[in-house]
Amino acid sequence: MDNTIIYLAYLVASCLFILGIKGLTKPRTAVRGNQLSALGMLIAVVVTLLDHSIISYQWIIAGIIVGGAIGAFMAKKIQVTAMPQMVALLNGFGGGASLFIAIANFLDPASATHTVALISIGATVLIGSVTLSGSFIAFAKLQELISGNPIRVPGNKVINLVLLVAAIALSGAIVVDPTQIDLIYALAAVSLLLGIFLVIPIGGADMPVVIALLNSYSGIAAATTGFITGNTVLIVAGALVGASGIILTQIMCKAMNRSLFNVLFGVMGEGGVVADADEVYAGKVKSTSPEEVAMLLETAERVVIVPGYGLAMAQAQHAVRDLANELQRRGTDVKYAIHPVAGRMPGHMNVLLAEAEVPYEQLIEMDEINPQFEQTDVAIVIGANDVTNPLAREDKTSPIYGMPILNVDKARTVIVIKRSLSPGFAGIPNPLFANDNTLMLFGDGKKEIVELTKDLKEAD
Ligand code: TAP
Repeated sequence: MDNTIIYLAYLVASCLFILGIKGLTKPRTAVRGNQLSALGMLIAVVVTLLDHSIISYQWIIAGIIVGGAIGAFMAKKIQVTAMPQMVALLNGFGGGASLFIAIANFLDPASATHTVALISIGATVLIGSVTLSGSFIAFAKLQELISGNPIRVPGNKVINLVLLVAAIALSGAIVVDPTQIDLIYALAAVSLLLGIFLVIPIGGADMPVVIALLNSYSGIAAATTGFITGNTVLIVAGALVGASGIILTQIMCKAMNRSLFNVLFGVMGEGGVVADADEVYAGKVKSTSPEEVAMLLETAERVVIVPGYGLAMAQAQHAVRDLANELQRRGTDVKYAIHPVAGRMPGHMNVLLAEAEVPYEQLIEMDEINPQFEQTDVAIVIGANDVTNPLAREDKTSPIYGMPILNVDKARTVIVIKRSLSPGFAGIPNPLFANDNTLMLFGDGKKEIVELTKDLKEAD
């Protein structure tokens, strides 16, 4: 194929990737964004396959069939709550693919001659290996194949430093003397160990941030692979993934009011004072029933639904949509308040509510909904805890102080639906549950919402 056509096609594919990412920034345009990126990827793949550098198609076809079948099976089987570990696994495969391409190029005397290619091979083996082993550890933690708790290895930080220095030294050595074939295997082994030691001390609950970071690494590894193979579209696509992954990591850290350093090397809540749950709740918590809540909702004009991780656990998104439909049928204004880190992965609540076909315009971001709580008659909090905890606003000694929250306590009445007074991800009590204007509806999110909707319908 003519080089000009190849470059033009790669340019079109790169533009489609960029437009795709832009589309993904808003729920309304996300599906189109995804389709544009997929079209870009199709163009890039087809053009690469038609390029004269393909020697044999058999292996590629076998790979497409086997990989496609496994991918389709995984996508069908996966529960939405298990999405973070699936993303971790896919990141790992991305890093692994880059690693093997780099090793194959190093072993091919024709391709591993230029200094740029050799530097790229060293960088790809290092980053690809860290991504591969780190992602597999993240997967194992989230899948509970190993303990999700932080696993403390004595001298972990020193081990990490030694492994990093060794990996950089080995990357340099392969550039200086590419005839030393064993060096590439030593570099891969050291980097794989580095990935394990970097991720093993991090708690399972912090894994979503780590996965976003590993996603960024897999993009960087793909970009450096592009330098090895001289494939411009791989460089562009890898750089886009690398940059967007790091931006997402930053957004998640900011929304949790933590630094990346604290996520990677600290422990959630380290240094803060955790209040005693008995002191916070004793004698102050009022529980309610679906019937009572239905009576409250009958007269409410403005209702805000606040979903959290428990909504995903209870798979209550369809039940919530039915409740909202019933309220709207009665003329009540219904909105959903979306916190950026509600749940356990970016966009968790948006994905769940989109699955239940809740209209996008009803999903209101934190900054926009917060001033509206004072005019809200009833805020219904379903399985959300930390993202509504007023301590984050008021108590300087709290481990979550400074984390932006949804100001649900400002609503006239707050209904909290959860199974018990157990804490959420941050492990701290929530004084919201003991507020004068709060009523606790104890039970499974889906079951209670279904009951509540039934009672509301019967009230006609
Ligand atoms: P959490 O604070 O984790 O609270 C979830 C609550 O859901 C729990 O208190 C639990 O209480 C309840 N729950 C569990 N299963 C339930 C069920 N079947 N029915 C009803 N309730 C149920 O959740 P959140 O408010 O969404 O906050 C998210 C937290 O995760 C934040 O601290 C955030 O920093 C952290 N985090 C988020 C992300 C992303 S990207 N979203 C990434 C890493 C960490 P019961 O056991 O009493 O029912």
